[in-house]
Amino acid sequence: MKLQGKVALITGTSPNIGGGIAEGLAEEGAKVVCVDITPDNAHQCAEAINQRGGQAIGAVCDVTDEAQVQATVARASEAFGGVDLLVNSAVIFIQKGVLDMSLAEWTRQTSIILTGTFLFTKYVAQLMIAQQRPGNIINIISTAGHQGQPRNVGYCTGKSGLLNFTRSVAMELVDYGIRVNSLTPTATDPQESFERAERWGRGPSDQRIAQMFEPFRKGAPMHKLPSPKHYAKAIAFLASEEAEMITGMDLRVDAGTIARYWAWNPSE
Ligand SMILES: NC(=O)c1ccc[n+]([C@@H]2O[C@H](COP(=O)([O-])OP(=O)(O)OC[C@H]3O[C@@H](n4cnc5c(N)ncnc54)[C@H](O)[C@@H]3O)[C@@H](O)[C@H]2O)c1
Repeated sequence: MKLQGKVALITGTSPNIGGGIAEGLAEEGAKVVCVDITPDNAHQCAEAINQRGGQAIGAVCDVTDEAQVQATVARASEAFGGVDLLVNSAVIFIQKGVLDMSLAEWTRQTSIILTGTFLFTKYVAQLMIAQQRPGNIINIISTAGHQGQPRNVGYCTGKSGLLNFTRSVAMELVDYGIRVNSLTPTATDPQESFERAERWGRGPSDQRIAQMFEPFRKGAPMHKLPSPKHYAKAIAFLASEEAEMITGMDLRVDAGTIARYWAWNPSE
């Protein structure tokens, strides 16, 4: 187990990627704080971890609200004596472009991605420095943060902003023993999240959603898409001693999609 005795705080713990990361880090021995604006996503994630013999609490929090973020970090510290690993994963999806996105939608989406990550990074880093023990911060990007996807302007902008936020903060915090990295997922195989949602007590999932991922699978050089468990393993590695010399880096767990030559179709 790579994270025995460590405390991990994860934002955005739906049954999809954030919840999969939370469960995966618990399997690596971490105590987990599951943070989400949606109460069921915070509490059901924590319950699922506790039922499997791990240790977790759920915390309801809007990542864009400074007072709520401070209270959540304080609660994590009270419950588990500090935070060793922060994973910034909370997001909303609004697939709109510059011509039709409202200012309110732009502001909300970029605030959740950028301001939410800024606030949790600020207050968790302050706590880590006060604790005087080394820590890790990992920001979740997307292949859309590396490429120009049309009609997804808020998401693409926020995610690419997080890439350089990661580098800047990695340099700022290097002397405190805090490593800051990012992880780039891509379109994610939905089967694992279907199974997790059912296990968390949410009825059967709509299997038709799986069909929507077929074009993405065809474009992936590895001919299959990653699952949340693959991201959790990569995060456990980045946060472990095995990655002690890695900071300011983006680790892509994307089945080769960013490396692919643009004119090559792997399914042909
Ligand atoms: N799903 C994919 O295929 C995919 C691909 C690449 C990257 N990603 C990234 O992975 C991460 C997780 O994505 P997902 O598909 O699991 O998303 P999701 O929508 O299933 O989960 C996002 C969670 O964030 C929570 N959230 C939204 N606004 C919040 C706020 N203001 N405060 C606190 N919590 C808030 C939601 O309630 C939800 O539980 C995101 O950072 C996303 O950009 C996802």
